[in-house]
Amino acid sequence: MFRVEHVTKSFGGLMAVSDVSFELKKGELSSIIGPNGAGKTTLFNLLTGHIKPDEGRIAFEGKEITDLSPHEICKRGIGRSFQRTNIFPRLSAFDNVQVALISWQRKSRNIFLKSDRLLREETNDILDSIGLGNKKETTAGLLAHGDQRLLEIGITLGTHPMLILLDEPTAGMSPEESNKTVELVRKLVREMGLTLLFIEHDMSVVFGISEKIRVMHMGSVMAEGSPEEIRANDDVQRIYLAEED
Ligand SMILES: Nc1ncnc2c1ncn2[C@@H]1O[C@H](COP(=O)(O)OP(=O)(O)O)[C@@H](O)[C@H]1O
Ligand SMILES: [Mg+2]
Repeated sequence: MFRVEHVTKSFGGLMAVSDVSFELKKGELSSIIGPNGAGKTTLFNLLTGHIKPDEGRIAFEGKEITDLSPHEICKRGIGRSFQRTNIFPRLSAFDNVQVALISWQRKSRNIFLKSDRLLREETNDILDSIGLGNKKETTAGLLAHGDQRLLEIGITLGTHPMLILLDEPTAGMSPEESNKTVELVRKLVREMGLTLLFIEHDMSVVFGISEKIRVMHMGSVMAEGSPEEIRANDDVQRIYLAEED
C-alpha cells in the first residue's frame, strides 16, 4: 500500500536521508529505529510532504504522492504525529480532537458533512479509545506529559488515516507509560484496520509492536528484519553501543 523508492535528501553537505527504499503492506505494524540524528524524522518529513526529496519517489495506494503538499497527502489517508507534541495547549483535550475532526472535514470537502452531534460523538469515541475520556475537559497544556502524547495520537486519528506515522510517541515517558502506550497503539491500529509506521529511538520499546523493524544509521536503512533478527544483528548492536559511549 505504501512504497518508498530511492528517497534521498541532503541539507548542504549532509546526507540526512540516503537512498532509502522500503514497502509497507496493508495492516502491517512496523517501526524505524536508530540513534539520534540517523535521519528518522527527516524521512517522515519526506513521506508526508513537509520537505521534498532530492531524488526518489513515494507512492501510496498505487498513486505517486512525491510532489503533493502535506495537506493533500493527509487527505489521501496518511496521518502523522510529531516528535515534539503539537497540541493546542490552551484548548481542552476535547476541543483539540474536535478541531482536528472539523479541519479534516473541511479539507476533505466531503459533501456529507457531519452534524455537530456526530462530530461530538466521534470526538468522544476517539478520546475514549486513547483512554482520555475522563480527562476531556482538562486544558491540554495541563495534562501530564504522557497524556499529551496520547492526545497527539488522538489528533492524528482525527484525520481519518489509513496509514499512521508516529514519531517517537513515547518520547519522555517512563518505561511503564511507554509500554502502556505501545499496547494501546497496537490495539487501536488493529481494531481500526490501520497500517502503522512507528519511529522510536529506544530499541526495547518497539519489539512489542513491530512485525518488521528497519534500522536507520547515518541516513541509510542499514538493516531490516523481524525483532529477533534485529536483536541478533551485530552491526545494530554496535551502533547502539557506540551511541552510549
Ligand atoms: N532542516 C534541516 N536543516 C539542516 N539539517 C537538518 C534539518 N533537519 C534535520 N537535519 C539534520 O539531519 C540529520 C538527521 O536528523 P533527524 O532526521 O532529525 O534525525 P533523527 O530523527 O533520526 O534523530 C541530523 O544531522 C540533523 O541535524
Ligand atoms: Mg527524530
